Order: sequence, then structure tokens, then C-alpha cells
Amino acid sequence: MNMGHKNIAALWVLLLTKFLVAVSQSPLANVPAVIVFGDSSVDSGNNNKIATILKSNFKPYGRDFDGGRPTGRFSNGRVPPDFISEAFGLKSSVPAYLDPTYTIKDFATGVCFASAGTGYDNATAAVLNVIPLWKEIEYYKEYQAKLRGYFGEEKANEIIREAVYLMSLGTNDFLENYYVFPGRRTEFTVAQYEDFLVGIAENFIRELYGLGVRKLAITGLVPIGCLPLERLTNIFGHHGCNQEYNNVALSFNKKLDKMVGRLNRELPQAFLYTTKAYDIFNDLIKNPSKYGFEVVEKACCSTGTFEMSYLCTDENPLTCSDASKYVFWDAFHPTEKTNRIITDYVLQKLRETLA
Ligand SMILES: *[C@@H]1O[C@H](CO)[C@@H](O)[C@H](O)[C@H]1NC(C)=O
Repeated sequence: MNMGHKNIAALWVLLLTKFLVAVSQSPLANVPAVIVFGDSSVDSGNNNKIATILKSNFKPYGRDFDGGRPTGRFSNGRVPPDFISEAFGLKSSVPAYLDPTYTIKDFATGVCFASAGTGYDNATAAVLNVIPLWKEIEYYKEYQAKLRGYFGEEKANEIIREAVYLMSLGTNDFLENYYVFPGRRTEFTVAQYEDFLVGIAENFIRELYGLGVRKLAITGLVPIGCLPLERLTNIFGHHGCNQEYNNVALSFNKKLDKMVGRLNRELPQAFLYTTKAYDIFNDLIKNPSKYGFEVVEKACCSTGTFEMSYLCTDENPLTCSDASKYVFWDAFHPTEKTNRIITDYVLQKLRETLA
């Protein structure tokens, strides 16, 4: 059979068109905005504006951020949503909703409702007087109204539907609440508490879905027993990782995965995805040198064992000079380099899922 050049060209056009249609149907095509819920792992400065002692809008926080600016991110530089936003061709950082220097026009391409110290459990947010998860949704509803007011119904709905939403929390429910105060421990076994939190996560996702959210990535827990602060308090474990906490993280993640899988099948047009942040975080704690890290047990800031928020001050002469050698920036939070590695891995796994 002799296909003329014309036919071959037509075939190419057909294949190319098919390819482009397939790409444009991918949940990651034409993402207009990255919208964030959660805790300090993703907060970009909302706590600056509320009455809590859990803040990081002072030096040395942000010393490797654009302009060396402390923004309220709990790191020396950017946090994962910033890298994700950049990967979608959007802004290189996602602004905090409560930051008055931004307008709805800025927030239309990305906004963060997260609050350091919060959790799924209302009682967790109460510990340090931060924004509870239900309030993050209230802010999100207010944002939707502003979006509709500014862009009109149709355009606003498109942004809401096509945006990629991120959700990252749960660590504080265990480490700032359950294992610290007796309240929830007298009510729930740890397994029951996991179920309680997953139940709240499910309601939260259903509520977002009801508000028009379709593409949502959920990050469960990382190896929380290996945070420097948890090593410090693991006296009987010779300051190694707290294995019990890591096991809680794994079992919580499993339950979260199962619930998310179920909702994915149940909710039409929903693309819900649980990230594999635990795996990459665990690998870089176990094999730091593979990633160019030199220190994993201690953080860069101050003694690196317990300091965070106001205890991580610019006056401490012990703070390291090169944070990129450290997995952790303060006793509870990763360095920018760790955040970047985690994000790259999460996005790569996500693309493999979609391929
Ligand atoms: C958390 O508090 C809000 C506001 O008071 C309430 O509506 C919600 O039901 C509470 N959530 C849980 C799980 O108790």
C-alpha cells in the first residue's frame, strides 16, 4: 500500500490531535490555581495575622527565600506548594489568604488557607490558638464569593473546578495533642483516634467536593518520629527515631488511603490522590548522603534539637551556615532543600499515576 505524503501528514495531524486531546483531558492540564489547606508543612504566613505564639515571620526563617525575607513559612525558604505552583507554570510562591498585601486578583492563581499548628481535630488547633480546619473552609467559601464577585460566575467556577487543591495536616494531632495532653488519650485508643481523624478528613473532602473542588492531593503523615524534637524526647530510645510514632504515621496513612480510594470511586469526576511523601521522606532520613545531606538528627537552627518558632532566633550563634546540608531547618520542619526533593518526588509519582 502506498500512502502518499498527504496521507501521512494527515495521519500525523490525527495522532497529534489525539495526543493533545488526551493531554488536555488530564487533570493536570491547564491548572489555573493551586489552593492549599493544612498546617505548618504548607502555611505561607497566615499565622502572622492571628493571635498565636506559633509564628515564623522573623529571622532566621526565610533567609534563603526570595530577598532573604521571613514570610511566616516554617523553613529557610519555600515550602512544597510553592514548588508545585511553579511546576504548573504559576507563581513561584503561593500567598497566604490573610496577607493584606494581596488581592483576589493575586489569589485567583493560588492561595493558602493553611495555619501552622492546626490539625483535623478542633482540639489540636485550640492548643496554640491557631486556625481550625473548619475555619479554613469558611475562609475558602469567602474566597469563592470574592472570586465570583471579581471574575463572574462562569470564570470563577472554572477556576474552582480546574484548580489543584492540596491538603497537608495530621502531624499536630498526634505530636501536639494526642501524645502531649491527656484529653483525647482518655477518650480514644490511638487506633480509634486515627479513625476519628480520618472521619474528619472524609467530611472535609466531601464538603470541598460539594463546593466544586475536583482535583485534590492529600498528604498524610511523614515519619513524624524522626523529627529532631521527637528524637530529643525519645530518651529511652537513645534519641533515635520514635518507632511508635512512625508506626502511627504508617497506619494512619493506610486508613487515609483507603478512605480516599473509596471516595474516588464514589464521587463522580473527582480526582483524589494521596501523595507518597512518607516514602521519600523516609528514604532521605535513612540515606541522607544520597541526596547530598550531611545532618539528619539535628536541625540547622540553634542547637537543632528543640527550637522552633520564637525559640529559633537570629541571635543564636549555633545556627548552621549552610541549610542545604540539613534535612531539617528547625526541630519540627524541613529545610527548603528537603521540601524541594519531596515535591519533585511527589510530582513524579503523580505523573506516573496519570501516564
Ligand atoms: C469543630 O468545630 C466546629 C465549630 O464549632 C463544629 O462545627 C464541628 O462540628 C467541630 N468538629 C468536630 C469533629 O467536632
